[in-house]
Amino acid sequence: MNNKIINFVKKKNKSKIISLTAYSKNIASIIDKHCDLILVGDSLGSVLYNFSSSKKVTLEMMIEHSKSVRMGVIKSLMVVDMPYNTYRNTKEALKNAKKIISRTKCDAVKIEGGKKVYQIVKTLIKNKIPVMGHLGILPQSATNFKFKGKNTTERNSILRDSKLLEEAGVFSIVLECIESSLAKKITKTVSIPTIGIGASSHCDGQVLVTDDLIGLNKISARFVKKYSNIGKKINDAVLKFKQDVTKVKFPSKKHSY
Ligand code: KIV
Repeated sequence: MNNKIINFVKKKNKSKIISLTAYSKNIASIIDKHCDLILVGDSLGSVLYNFSSSKKVTLEMMIEHSKSVRMGVIKSLMVVDMPYNTYRNTKEALKNAKKIISRTKCDAVKIEGGKKVYQIVKTLIKNKIPVMGHLGILPQSATNFKFKGKNTTERNSILRDSKLLEEAGVFSIVLECIESSLAKKITKTVSIPTIGIGASSHCDGQVLVTDDLIGLNKISARFVKKYSNIGKKINDAVLKFKQDVTKVKFPSKKHSY
């Protein structure tokens, strides 16, 4: 484990962990100084490409976006999602995780699931590839996006999976859209940090999709808080440019050769 990961894990029970997504260098370089972890999430499929499902995101897409993000990340831990159908067995997972790490220079990969990915997690870690887990709603296999942990069977299974992932060696687990008291129980049970998205303030840290937070992506989900309306700011700037060009105010002499 590299020092960034060791320091990240040490934050548990000390200070809240700040995580956000980035899909490109420019956003990554703005958010880097405020984040502990930057995730190149396969949410880029729906956010940037309008895909109906993250199943359509390819390894090449993740690698190219991550190479851009890498240029903007200095301080944060950089984690890259392994996309759908790239870790169906240990051999495939190892080959693709190695490709992601070597081509993007990220610090770790994230994979979705519990018991099903136990051997895969163990294999990656044995090969010195740090892994972040992801439980609760699993967008790569979800049939609906209703929050998890409503009944005892579901709660027990997610809790069991969190213990299994910890035992397999993940350094942290994303908990997506699970009921608050279950998030609290998992966070108290495991010794590694839990990072919530729609999983209450009981988690050790929080992650949001940056495009949702800044109001660039049109989404209305209970777990999203829009901290800015960057779309309006872009609109106003472009409108001003259009007016200046139309009125021959731009380019002025100052902007000409
Ligand atoms: O793909 C993604 O952006 C994610 C976060 C929402 C945790 O997995």
